[in-house]
Amino acid sequence: MEINEQLKRIKEEIDTFFSVAADEVDKFRLKYLGKKGIITCMFDDIRTIAPEQRKEFGKNVNDLKTQALSKIEQLNQIIENNKVQSIDALDLSRPANSIALGSRHPIAKVTHNICQAFEKIGFTVAEGPEIEDDWHNFESLNFPPEHPARDMQDTFFISENPDIVLRTHTSSIQVRVMENNHPPIRVICPGRVFRNEAITARAHCIFHQIEGLYIDKNVSFADMKQTLLYFVKEMFGSHVSIRLRPSYFPFTEPSAEMDISCDICGGKGCNLCKYSGWVEILGCGMVDPNVLENMNINPDEYSGFAFGMGIERITQQIYKTKDIRLFFENDIRFLSQFKAI
Ligand code: DAH
Repeated sequence: MEINEQLKRIKEEIDTFFSVAADEVDKFRLKYLGKKGIITCMFDDIRTIAPEQRKEFGKNVNDLKTQALSKIEQLNQIIENNKVQSIDALDLSRPANSIALGSRHPIAKVTHNICQAFEKIGFTVAEGPEIEDDWHNFESLNFPPEHPARDMQDTFFISENPDIVLRTHTSSIQVRVMENNHPPIRVICPGRVFRNEAITARAHCIFHQIEGLYIDKNVSFADMKQTLLYFVKEMFGSHVSIRLRPSYFPFTEPSAEMDISCDICGGKGCNLCKYSGWVEILGCGMVDPNVLENMNINPDEYSGFAFGMGIERITQQIYKTKDIRLFFENDIRFLSQFKAI
């Protein structure tokens, strides 16, 4: 092999060598710089080189030696740094460094608990899209175009297409469930909803709801009341009571709003219940026959009830959090308080 090429190849070999095993590094040292090492032998060869090339060859071999030595030093340094202390120097009784654990978001936790309470009595969980069309969010639920009840929900529309909305409530999911299933139907539908509201301590433009729907033969208002009472006792404890107030929703007839006795003041009256002793937690009612007909379910054969609740409101009641914005800021100082739940 031509001498310059040989020098080049050795230079490359030294360059690319890497090991942090001490015996490998020593083998490397012997291979190049040992008594019969490659570089050592090259020094002996100098005599055989033509006098006019000797100077340059000598310089090149010297450079290789410097390169190999610095490689060995560098690898030995790494080995030294990596060396584990001897077992005697370790304090085995020293407590381990603590590992920071994450925690579940309180909204996720409460959503899970609500679903679980209903799953115990035979409901299944269904989900639906956050971007909806007018039919699923409004029209099928008995909100005809221009109906004043549409104004109750400050809807986000998409400017290019007024048919597309960000869903204002999870009631749109009950429509999708009825479209795709025959009664009996028992579902619970959690999800995020959107309304064009100013963000304050009490309101947010994004929040969470859970919708419930039960359709079968001979389902009555009494069934609804008993189901909701079961849910409240399961969720808040058996000491909490409920009351129903007449209300209006286009998709239920009759409609009601349900309050629970305030768990913060025990019904005596406080800031959170506005000194009434009661906190509203959901809207409910018997599914309007028009809605059933829209879904090709015969209202003479089937009846049902539906309900919808805001999860933030319930979470606030459970954990006594006053400001709804805390749920959306992801401030670790707030979230880490929920580790134990
Ligand atoms: N969709 C209603 C809202 O967002 C809540 C609601 C009320 C849902 C009554 C229902 C119901 O299913 O029957 O305010």
